[in-house]
Amino acid sequence: MSRKFFVGGNWKMNGDKKSLGELIQTLNTAKLDANVEVVCGSPAIYLDFVRSKMDAKLGVAAQNCYKVAKGAFTGEISPAMIKDVGVNWVILGHSERRHVFGESDELIGQKTAHALENGLCVIACIGEKLDEREAGITEKVVFAQTKVIADNVKDWSKVVLAYEPVWAIGTGKTASPAQAQEVHDKLRAWVKTNVSEAVANSVRIIYGGSVTGSTCKELASQKDVDGFLVGGASLKAEFVEIINANV
Ligand code: G3H
Repeated sequence: MSRKFFVGGNWKMNGDKKSLGELIQTLNTAKLDANVEVVCGSPAIYLDFVRSKMDAKLGVAAQNCYKVAKGAFTGEISPAMIKDVGVNWVILGHSERRHVFGESDELIGQKTAHALENGLCVIACIGEKLDEREAGITEKVVFAQTKVIADNVKDWSKVVLAYEPVWAIGTGKTASPAQAQEVHDKLRAWVKTNVSEAVANSVRIIYGGSVTGSTCKELASQKDVDGFLVGGASLKAEFVEIINANV
């Protein structure tokens, strides 16, 4: 089964109206591979602005959301609010949420369930830390993280799995194409065994961690790499090159 290539940009806590407006202008006018689904993750405060400026063919994502619709949760935003400004995606379980803000697997699972129930599509992130890779427990870690997500998903057509080894994020140390392919292949096998063969064949498993214009093509050529989640380079015109990795 052919899976539509998916390129997400995660702007993290970067940009302002001026610079994001310029970036959006670049994306709106660039010649982008029509066979790629593009979704940009904006800071919460700019979601409305970004959605209103970004061409309709390009998706927008929130970078986080809470696990309930509304209430006394100072500083949080809900899937209902995200939908209300016309945004259809959310990134959940990013390693910075896990390791800087201490989000547990359980909370990420609850957020995943609530976001999906409220009509958002989810980019669900998983990935091992350097010490875990060095201890030879990469599979154990990513399978456990994936299980919590899988336990909370009913409709897999609304989910993209993002494998992001923590040691590769923002470090300039991209996983080699073989390293990425190895984990993606194992994740797909895990989905086949634990969810279904149909979902294993259809779910997009994308790679994140220091993806650049110069590393994207070889990564994209790997059988089980169905796209990217791009941090730093998604803030630059280079993002266009990454979207067009297969051209
Ligand atoms: O969500 C994106 C990842 O954290 C990758 O970030 O491309 O800056 O390494 P990076």
